[in-house]
Amino acid sequence: MSRQIVAWHAEHLNFARLLRLLEEQLAVFAQGGDPDYTLMRDIVYYLRHFPDVHHHRYENEVYERMRKRDPSLQALVVRLLQEHRVIAACGDQLLALLEAASSEAIVARADLETAAATYLVYYRAHIDAEELQMAPHVAATLHAADWADVAASVEAKSRHDPLFGPQAEERFRTLRLAIEREAPAVQR
Ligand SMILES: [Fe+2]
Ligand SMILES: [Fe+2]
Repeated sequence: MSRQIVAWHAEHLNFARLLRLLEEQLAVFAQGGDPDYTLMRDIVYYLRHFPDVHHHRYENEVYERMRKRDPSLQALVVRLLQEHRVIAACGDQLLALLEAASSEAIVARADLETAAATYLVYYRAHIDAEELQMAPHVAATLHAADWADVAASVEAKSRHDPLFGPQAEERFRTLRLAIEREAPAVQR
């Protein structure tokens, strides 16, 4: 298996871990308790930025190549690309509600619960579709030259993006690790 597929899968595992932490906070919410809004906000902030800027940009390039190589994947590619846009829009809405809640503004519990639960279900279904339906085709189709081509396209499109590049990746990695470190303290 190529190192790109391994890295892709590892990022999905990281996202799934963060979604589990979000789900734990949602359970507190459902039981009438007060969740840690700051933790929830950090999780969604990370998911709203790192995947959109890095992870989805790679995927978009990969899926465009898959669509050309195998026209039978057209419907799946259209769906996954659309989901990237929907995840970003849902993430923005949820982030706005969490920012309001963590700054003590009045936010309807039902609105927040609905937005968070919808985001969770939608994001998980997206990752599952990529892992189960798309990844096997990608692994069988793309080779070293294709991955080099993907990397070159991503780099060309990211050249003027201040959020892209090794420094940004390191900053987001630090945030993810901080979130995961913080989580056991919340569960106690
Ligand atoms: Fe994706
Ligand atoms: Fe993904």
